[in-house]
Amino acid sequence: MVKICCIGAGYVGGPTMAVIALKCPEIQVAVVDISVSRINAWNSDALPIYEPGLDDVVKQCRGKNLFFSTDVEKHVAEADIVFVSVNTPTKTQGLGAGKAADLTYWESAARMIADVSKSDKIVVEKSTVPVKTAEAIEKILTHNSKGINFQILSNPEFLAEGTAIEDLFKPDRVLIGGRETKEGTKAIETLRDVYAHWVPVDRIICTNLWSAELSKLAANAFLAQRISSVNAMSALCEATGADVSQVSHAVGKDTRIGPKFLNASVGFGGSCFQKDILNLVYICECNGLPEVANYWKQVIKVNDYQKNRFVNRIVSSMFNTVSGKKIAVLGFAFKKDTGDTRETPAIDVCKGLLGDKARLSIYDPQVNEEQIQRDLSMKKFDWDHPVHLQPMSPSSIKQVSVVWDAYAATKDAHGICILTEWDEFKTLDYQKIYDNMQKPAFVFDGRNIVDVAKLRDIGFIVYSIGKPLDQWLKDMPAVA
Ligand code: UDX
Ligand code: UDX
Ligand code: ADP
Repeated sequence: MVKICCIGAGYVGGPTMAVIALKCPEIQVAVVDISVSRINAWNSDALPIYEPGLDDVVKQCRGKNLFFSTDVEKHVAEADIVFVSVNTPTKTQGLGAGKAADLTYWESAARMIADVSKSDKIVVEKSTVPVKTAEAIEKILTHNSKGINFQILSNPEFLAEGTAIEDLFKPDRVLIGGRETKEGTKAIETLRDVYAHWVPVDRIICTNLWSAELSKLAANAFLAQRISSVNAMSALCEATGADVSQVSHAVGKDTRIGPKFLNASVGFGGSCFQKDILNLVYICECNGLPEVANYWKQVIKVNDYQKNRFVNRIVSSMFNTVSGKKIAVLGFAFKKDTGDTRETPAIDVCKGLLGDKARLSIYDPQVNEEQIQRDLSMKKFDWDHPVHLQPMSPSSIKQVSVVWDAYAATKDAHGICILTEWDEFKTLDYQKIYDNMQKPAFVFDGRNIVDVAKLRDIGFIVYSIGKPLDQWLKDMPAVA
């Protein structure tokens, strides 16, 4: 029986291992983590992450061939294949601060693997890491190996949150990079056989180690670049009277471009895009390629511009001040169908509004008050450290209240900001909401989900990213 162990029971490790266990009943899968609370949650009815379909998969395998444990060393020692899916935060100090990946957690995991191993192992990079990390890890493993053979593979995960289970069941591709040696090829085949239980073999791509590592950074950079491209267009649409949805539709019809990932928004968020691009930028700079670095840097600059532009639009249209005004924030997660708030644009928008002394009433169906308060008090990049090491917010921000209903959030508010595209926000009773708000009542739709004409008929002043502006907004131009 093949035994798999995954170090890191997070958004990637948890769902990926659950699906491997489901699809490969003869493989025993252990997911381990240093966080006791996280492992306890994986073993309970309230899983630590919200992901459609995940509960079902976990229930089918847990206790049979899927186990969650804090006994990291025991499970690593027993495993034939060890996946490493630990945090890779952006460095906040020292060389490469603000850009380079901090590989502390990776390195400590590698040293631990070397320490406890008594048999040959395949070690698989699952977290996104800088190109050539595999080589560094290989050095740590072989220098401490006591004669044990370690084969290192890069097998980046492409699942997106909110659709993780679907993505894992039917991946566009599985990518496995390894050494181009006899042992390397054998290790690639072993991992390929695991995925071949349910993934057609023509979708399993095998490459060298560095191509696999770079492909992951490149895929995320390309995806983020599409969003920054359409968001840059959204600013031009507002200035010219074009409608960004019509432009995206027309552009996406070109089969060379394709229709997906062209929705203008308040900005992209999530744990990967910004971090991976910063990483890419740093690697380019270290390799003497400043032009390439600057090209990718611009994707992040446009994303920051988009978030600032949204805040400026709110403040300028409300007579240049939101001081003391109640603003309802609908949605805090970085996208719908997840409770994840890592790098969510809501953090920057809320901080911008708080900077102008607004009072915020926030509602998200999957994010609780403690998380929101923590996010709004945390420093940039501090989110990516193991949860149990994160400091609790010293005191909650008084101008922020978190409520469990969109109607409570909007009651007596001057304006509404929609920051996550949750389906339930499309079907709210906007007439009832309007009746209970201060007038003039504003809606700022950062996700283009409301029916602009209908809301204008009710009486709202509506701003929707990249859509033609109404007269009020034209008369109150946003300051740059
Ligand atoms: C991303 C990649 O899609 C995935 O392949 C990789 O493994 C991890 O990073 P994720 O961050 O979970 O996945 O979600 P994704 O759907 O890519 O959305 C990222 C951000 O872009 C979200 O904030 C989303 O709202 C935003 N977005 C996405 C847009 O603003 N417009 C779009 O058209 C698509
Ligand atoms: C382009 C658009 O494709 C077309 O829709 C528009 O109407 C006019 O502009 P064209 O310039 O004729 O058409 O050729 P195209 O095939 O787009 O190639 C443009 C340039 O890009 C060429 O120099 C081509 O060699 C280059 N190219 C194209 C690449 O370097 N790599 C590619 O993957 C594709
Ligand atoms: P991702 O989104 O990439 O899955 P997460 O932050 O959700 O990232 O998960 C990473 C997990 O790895 C965290 O639960 C953290 O506690 C765990 N972790 C970090 N370092 C170690 C380690 N040395 N041993 C075991 N688990 C670790």
